[in-house]
This record gives sequence, C-alpha cells and structure tokens, in this order.
Amino acid sequence: MAFLADALSRVKPSATIAVSQKARELKAQGRDVIGLGAGEPDFDTPDNIKKAAIDAINRGETKYTPVSGIQPLREAIAAKFKRENNLDYDWKQTIVGTGGKQILFNAFMATLNEGDEVVIPTPYWVSYPEMVAICNGKSVFVETSIENGFKLTAEALEKAITPKTKWVLMNSPSNPSGAAYTKDELKAIADVVLKHPDVWVLTDDMYEHLTYGDFKFHTIAEVEPKLIDRTLTMNGVSKAYAMTGWRIGYAGGPIELIKAMDMIQGQQTSGASSIAQWAAVEALNGPQDFIQKNKEIFQGRRDLVVSMLNQATGIECPVPEGAFYVYPSCKGCIGKTAPSGKKIESDEDFVTELLEAEGVAVVHGSAFGLGPNFRISYATSEKALEEACSRIQRFTANLR
Ligand SMILES: Cc1ncc(COP(=O)(O)O)c(C=O)c1O
Repeated sequence: MAFLADALSRVKPSATIAVSQKARELKAQGRDVIGLGAGEPDFDTPDNIKKAAIDAINRGETKYTPVSGIQPLREAIAAKFKRENNLDYDWKQTIVGTGGKQILFNAFMATLNEGDEVVIPTPYWVSYPEMVAICNGKSVFVETSIENGFKLTAEALEKAITPKTKWVLMNSPSNPSGAAYTKDELKAIADVVLKHPDVWVLTDDMYEHLTYGDFKFHTIAEVEPKLIDRTLTMNGVSKAYAMTGWRIGYAGGPIELIKAMDMIQGQQTSGASSIAQWAAVEALNGPQDFIQKNKEIFQGRRDLVVSMLNQATGIECPVPEGAFYVYPSCKGCIGKTAPSGKKIESDEDFVTELLEAEGVAVVHGSAFGLGPNFRISYATSEKALEEACSRIQRFTANLR
C-alpha cells in the first residue's frame, strides 16, 4: 500500500520555485547569476503598515481571530471594493485568508466535485491547475495567443463551456503575461457567462494596482453587475503593498460561498495572523501614495525590458498592460544551437541554456501552459534588468 495520497500524483512542484532554487545553487557555486524568476515586489512594506503591526502587538492583538477575519479588516475590504471597484459587498460577504492562495484554494475546495470543470486561459499562474487537481476538479485550458494580447476571447470561452463547467477563472493583470482586460473585453466575457446560469466567475485581481499608462483596471462584477451573485472577487495586499510575507488575501462573494469557505478554513488554519490582519487594515485604510510611486518605477522598468528584448534576435516581446512580468516569445530561437552545442528545441531548453551560458534565470513558458515563451519578472533593480537584457541579447546573437 502506498503511504502517500493519490492526490499527490496529480500535483506538480512549482516551476517558478524550481528556477529560483537553481539560481540560488549556481550563486552558491560562485556564479554571477541574475534571478528574474521572483514573483514579488523588491520594495519593502511601507512604514505606516509596519507600525500598525507593531502597535497591534503592543495592544495585545495576539490571539485567535474570527475565522473569516477581524471585523475592522472585513469592513475595510468592503469599503475598498466600494471605493475602488464600485462593488457593493456587505462586510459579512468578505473573507480574509492566509494569502490570496488560501482564498483560491478554499473556493475550489468548497465547490468542486470530482470531474467539475474550471476554465483556465493559458498562460496561467502555475498554481491554478494544481489547486484544481488537488480538489478533484478538471482544468479546461483555453489557449490565448500573442496576437490577441494573451487574452481570452468570448468565442473561445463559449466553446470551452460544457454542462460540467463550474468556474471560469479570470486573472487580470495576468501572472505570467501581464495582460489586462479592458472594460469592453470583460463585458464580452461576461455576456458569454450570462448565457450559462450555472457557471461562476472566480476573478483573481491580485495585480489590480499595477497597471500602466492610461490603462484603467476593471473587474468583471463591476462591468456586469448581473454577475455579482455568481462571482468571487479575489484580491490581496501581497503585491500592491509589498506584503508578500505577511500572508493576507481576501475576497468578496455571495454569502453562501463565503460561509462554505469559512467552514473549510475553520478546520484548516482558522483566522489569518492577527498581527498581519491589523497591518492590512492600515494598508487598505491608510495613505495610498505608495502605490502610485511604485507604479511609476515599475512602468519605467517594463518599458526598458520590452525595448531591450525586442532588440534581441529571435525574441518578440509585446507590451503588457500590467503586473510586473513580460512574456516574450522565443520562437525565433527554436531550432538554433546554443554555445554549449545543445540544440534548442523548446522554451525549456532556451531558459536552461540561457542560465548556463549567461547566468540569467527566467521561467520557461510551458510551465505556464503556453510556449515557446519565457517569463521575466521585472521586480528588480533597473541596473540588474539592463545587465540581464544585455546578456539575453548576447545569448540570442550567439545562437547558431
Ligand atoms: C496571479 C496570482 N494570484 C495569487 C497569488 C497569491 O498571492 P498570495 O501571495 O497573497 O498568496 C499570486 C502570487 O504570486 C499570483 O501571482
């Protein structure tokens, strides 16, 4: 009898973590490696938020909290949804989890029966299909393309929906492509969902505050209010407030679903860290100027990386609307031979050879379900990005 659960055989380890690990190993051997795999801002959490956590400790806010979160945070979340997204969620329709990851996981856990389908556009964040698999569901992947900006179209969604579809998963701005949907694009998706009354939308808005230029963020229940009763609007403080380590995510949704997620969380982790929750209250209710400052820095980095990558032979890099990732195609390098003598037959070969030859760590697109591409996280200094992109240019120029 095998000791480990069968469910484990359905789950893959995270490719993004594997890349960071490989980069660390090479660095430990003394290699000069630039890691562009990280999915977190390189800024520190703002001081007002840190202070709120310290104050919470000093006040003795160090006990278990209600499973769904402390009321001041749930009220701050409801106010945020109203203020920024024009969504009317009562505070009781919100839930706080240990990171956005737990919110997503528990939403699937609370709703998926064996074989239930979740429509996931590719490229996708690596954890979605693995979470669906652990919860016994089935991921139905819908390919997007570089030509349509890596966005799901209404036609493609219509074709993917079956009587078993439970969720459509939207992630805008997207990890890994940075693509973000306009109001009209979301409306077209919403119109398809409206035709299928049993289908719900799970929207992962984690990168909401990281959009650039004139782009205006929208979320699906705001664009189509008729969907509010079957949408889970998920968000968190991790990326917007540089709080990845604090582990606070949240969602707003129909009360029955929130209660079901509360029940699961109650037998799992209970409430998120009390101290981090008080810090998140300050993040949502306190000054927001940090976000604008960081957006400007990220936009400068995005423009630098896109421009330098488009000067690399065989690389095509579209301009993403948001997040801190670019998702260039390396199609023009497939079939060529690397300095090591290895023929590059896939994006995985491309990133492996790039790391070997030039010490630049990026993640291959096939890990996100769409290639031949690779993902660069530009959440690092401009100096490191400039050096990394020069090395990529040299690497592609040296392919024969
Ligand atoms: C698209 C997306 N959703 C959710 C998460 C999870 O966020 P958290 O760190 O709050 O669990 C991430 C983190 O990388 C992400 O990229």
